[in-house]
Amino acid sequence: MQMNVQLVPFLIACLLSTVYSEDSEEFCYNSPGCNATTWPIAQLYCNGTRQSPINIVTADVKSDSNLTAFSFTGFNDSSTLRNINNTGKSVIIDLEGKKMSVSGGGLQNTYTSEEFHIHWGNGSSFSGSEHTVDGKQYAMEIHILNLRSDVSVAAANDSTAYAVLGFFIEATNDSGKPESWKNLTSFLSNISKKGDSFDIMNQLTVDSLLQGVDRTKYYRYLGSRTTPPCNEIVVWTVFKDPVKVSKDLIDLFSNTVHINTTADPFITNNHRVLQALNGRVVTSQPTSSANTTSSANTTSSANTTSSANTTSSANTTSSASTLHHTLSISTALLCYVLFWCL
Ligand SMILES: *[C@@H]1O[C@H](CO)[C@@H](O)[C@H](O)[C@H]1NC(C)=O
Ligand SMILES: *[C@@H]1O[C@H](CO)[C@@H](O)[C@H](O)[C@H]1NC(C)=O
Ligand SMILES: *[C@@H]1O[C@H](CO)[C@@H](O)[C@H](O)[C@H]1NC(C)=O
Ligand SMILES: *[C@@H]1O[C@H](CO)[C@@H](O)[C@H](O)[C@H]1NC(C)=O
Ligand SMILES: *[C@@H]1O[C@H](CO)[C@@H](O)[C@H](O)[C@H]1NC(C)=O
Ligand SMILES: *[C@@H]1O[C@H](CO)[C@@H](O)[C@H](O)[C@H]1NC(C)=O
Ligand SMILES: *[C@@H]1O[C@H](CO)[C@@H](O)[C@H](O)[C@H]1NC(C)=O
Ligand SMILES: *[C@@H]1O[C@H](CO)[C@@H](O)[C@H](O)[C@H]1NC(C)=O
Ligand SMILES: *[C@@H]1O[C@H](CO)[C@@H](O)[C@H](O)[C@H]1NC(C)=O
Ligand SMILES: *[C@@H]1O[C@H](CO)[C@@H](O)[C@H](O)[C@H]1NC(C)=O
Ligand SMILES: *[C@@H]1O[C@H](CO)[C@@H](O)[C@H](O)[C@H]1NC(C)=O
Ligand SMILES: *[C@@H]1O[C@H](CO)[C@@H](O)[C@H](O)[C@H]1NC(C)=O
Ligand SMILES: [Zn+2]
Repeated sequence: MQMNVQLVPFLIACLLSTVYSEDSEEFCYNSPGCNATTWPIAQLYCNGTRQSPINIVTADVKSDSNLTAFSFTGFNDSSTLRNINNTGKSVIIDLEGKKMSVSGGGLQNTYTSEEFHIHWGNGSSFSGSEHTVDGKQYAMEIHILNLRSDVSVAAANDSTAYAVLGFFIEATNDSGKPESWKNLTSFLSNISKKGDSFDIMNQLTVDSLLQGVDRTKYYRYLGSRTTPPCNEIVVWTVFKDPVKVSKDLIDLFSNTVHINTTADPFITNNHRVLQALNGRVVTSQPTSSANTTSSANTTSSANTTSSANTTSSANTTSSASTLHHTLSISTALLCYVLFWCL
């Protein structure tokens, strides 16, 4: 029975390359009968009121002088990147938490880095960032996950357990640029199958992957993991400047790594649809773009993009999605089992 439920979207995924379904049974996206509205474990937290991602409406951003500069430790150290893995949902790079952490930036604690992973669309022409700004979706989005250093495992209701740093990636018409991304993407061919892992120690630094971003300019809000069970435990930081990466390198994500075996579809559109703000306030530095964005009147996006229930966008590139956020897969599986038993 579970097989049937999973096979239907899977077969559709084979027919429609824009539809992506999870290999494992945790959740899937936007195929008839199996999408974000029917995530079996949605009853846990995914229907909550501080979910991510969101559309950031710059005209509504409030200034907060507490949002000072961050202190990044180990971001310049190439021994903090351990391996690059294909999880079947994304590409994830394990980080050496003993050497890498982040503090400052209005965070109340030091946070230990665990991993970073990437969300993308389908080629550079179909954007796949999770957050959007005034309705603009970027080509890709990096999430660096950092766990508050006073805990070893995040409690399900710990409001500030994670500090996730989100970086947009914008496509350029160059090729093979920048060198750091050429280097990183060269490893994708080593992890074409789900479960593949490749050692990338001492090859590149996180700093090199974030070049061009002024890390003193960012948005802040309280949200959730973007994958089931969508725990509302994330202090989000979304940096304003995008990292600029050439199209050919962005394309490699959606034409190199597969959701399972090389006979299965590529991982594409692994991003969750936008969630309702529900009265939350997004903040930023006082000297931010308060006045440049005063053309607030073009904010048609306010109501269209924040429609929480996510089913609207059958035709947009943001529909078929997937995701991941390695929140304990075992927890997800357990929840799934419970769901089907009920
Ligand atoms: C993924 O591939 C493995 C190895 O071929 C296979 O055993 C497994 O059933 C596949 N999973 C799915 C969901 O297709
Ligand atoms: C999502 O699944 C529901 C329930 O099966 C279905 O009614 C709806 O049409 C699906 N939405 C999309 C975008 O496929
Ligand atoms: C989410 O769903 C669960 C289970 O149906 C329910 O108990 C909970 O109140 C819901 N939460 C919200 C915010 O609607
Ligand atoms: C800034 O931080 C102080 C001390 O934590 C707090 O009292 C104040 O409310 C914060 N300001 C804003 C705008 O959040
Ligand atoms: C990283 O930066 C810190 C602080 O500037 C410096 O002490 C350290 O030597 C640098 N590490 C590497 C590997 O460059
Ligand atoms: C990546 O793969 C390595 C080697 O199999 C494994 O030890 C590690 O736990 C994996 N990391 C993630 C996040 O799956
Ligand atoms: C990545 O960069 C490192 C350091 O410059 C270099 O040693 C390595 O050969 C590069 N790897 C690839 C695949 O380009
Ligand atoms: C922003 O615009 C307001 C109203 O037009 C003006 O009073 C204020 O001085 C401007 N602030 C800056 C930093 O330009
Ligand atoms: C913006 O919208 C407000 C309210 O709809 C209106 O009063 C104002 O004139 C508009 N400003 C511009 C520059 O269009
Ligand atoms: C959004 O739409 C709702 C319902 O259609 C309406 O009540 C609300 O005023 C709208 N908000 C904005 C900011 O337009
Ligand atoms: C989402 O849809 C469900 C069922 O249609 C509804 O009960 C719930 O209120 C909706 N949530 C939001 C935030 O609109
Ligand atoms: C998708 O958009 C195309 C072109 O705008 C339109 O012709 C088609 O009917 C749309 N399909 C759906 C399912 O909305
Ligand atoms: Zn993510």
